[in-house]
Amino acid sequence: MKITVVGTGYVGLVTGACLAEMGNHVLCLDVDARKIDVLNDGGIPIHEPGLQEVVQRNAQGGRLEFTTDVDRAVAHGTLQFIAVGTPPDEDGSADLKYVQAAARAIGERMTDYKVVIDKSTVPVGTADKVRAAIDEALAARGLQLEFAVVSNPEFLKEGAAVADFMRPDRVVVGADDERAILLMRALYAPFIRNRERLLVMDVKSAEFTKYAANAMLATRISFMNELSRLAETVGADIELVRQGIGSDPRIGTHFLYAGAGYGGSCFPKDVKALVRTGADAGHDLLILNAVEAANERQKQVLVDKVVKRFGEGAKGSLAGRRFALWGLAFKPGTDDMREAPSQVLIQALAARGAEVVAYDPVAMDEARRSMPGQPGLQYAASANEALADADALIIVTEWKEFRSPDYEFIKSTLKQPVVIDGRNLFEPATMKAFGIEYHAIGRPL
Ligand code: UGA
Repeated sequence: MKITVVGTGYVGLVTGACLAEMGNHVLCLDVDARKIDVLNDGGIPIHEPGLQEVVQRNAQGGRLEFTTDVDRAVAHGTLQFIAVGTPPDEDGSADLKYVQAAARAIGERMTDYKVVIDKSTVPVGTADKVRAAIDEALAARGLQLEFAVVSNPEFLKEGAAVADFMRPDRVVVGADDERAILLMRALYAPFIRNRERLLVMDVKSAEFTKYAANAMLATRISFMNELSRLAETVGADIELVRQGIGSDPRIGTHFLYAGAGYGGSCFPKDVKALVRTGADAGHDLLILNAVEAANERQKQVLVDKVVKRFGEGAKGSLAGRRFALWGLAFKPGTDDMREAPSQVLIQALAARGAEVVAYDPVAMDEARRSMPGQPGLQYAASANEALADADALIIVTEWKEFRSPDYEFIKSTLKQPVVIDGRNLFEPATMKAFGIEYHAIGRPL
């Protein structure tokens, strides 16, 4: 099939590359000429395991092309995916200006039947707005052309995006046009062996499903984070509690890890946007408001632990202290720094006069970009180098390479053998055996 993908961010690029992998002829459009140049030169603008290979293979095969030419892009695909950004507005609602501009651009140029597919995470009701924008643009041209608007939300996880797209646990298609449903079924058939995994529903339910999924996952995390605080106070171990409840299939084992708060481009934005949708519709979403507030508080948990252990005076000054920080990205497998708990931590420690020496296997360039000129922050070339002259080690991202460290080296290099771990990487008993003072999340000292 001929497919156009508008927007070459995470979602657009993965969608385009993976659809090309199955033999479709995909043209990706972006307004950012530099991004398109990088892609045309065989590079990719983001860190995503396995993506570069898929992009290169299909570009070489002539099935995947990149352009800034809007006319060509609209003419190319019968299927037009909209995968542009929906940044949060000041009030937390998703800003749809890029989605609407893409819809208008299609309406202003199309000459035959198109299926316009919302792939970006967009609030309930967006498909109606996309349809209206296209109708308006067609009317301005004095044309009446047939088209369908479909909601096909993406559920990929950063760091596992290609695998998630190639083997989805479900594909949600919101549509009311039979021809469009047929095309969508054909498009996804190679990705899903089990047909029941393609869920066709009405457009609004599909749009809602995406927010419901992320809101549920965020809720589980905030719930566990909240319980981890109580566990510390009453002397229980949240890791044992997690195993104890996760073995109940109704609860399940995933997304129950207490930590330093959730970050990234999706959960914080989507929870806020759903709360906003609720408020606009006259519903005060009590649970989701609390999920969001609990996460804001949880991003402070490492700061609180550091100040409790090292702070001096009534204001908890950390002047003259130096901390090694392992991890910067909001989660392992990505260089994404958006809403990363590490940013809150670094700013808070620096504001109290501390120095932070950070190491992350892939996110240091991105950190330099997202925290330019951040006072008190330096970068180390390796995890071990970060430890030199540090009072303690703080861990905020659970990269695999941190999981089996040289415990003896940590103990002998730090000025004080203190590890404050925001991701519960180690067993308290192991740390004790190595003579390391270990502060984890929701676990006894
Ligand atoms: C999330 C969803 O998992 C995807 O299904 C969804 O498609 C995507 O958002 C999206 O809307 O595009 P992602 O943001 O890539 O994916 O990252 P996750 O792996 O979900 O992690 C989100 C945050 O939750 C991270 O900060 C992670 O550290 C935190 N987390 C996750 C926990 O604190 N505890 C857990 O048990 C799991």
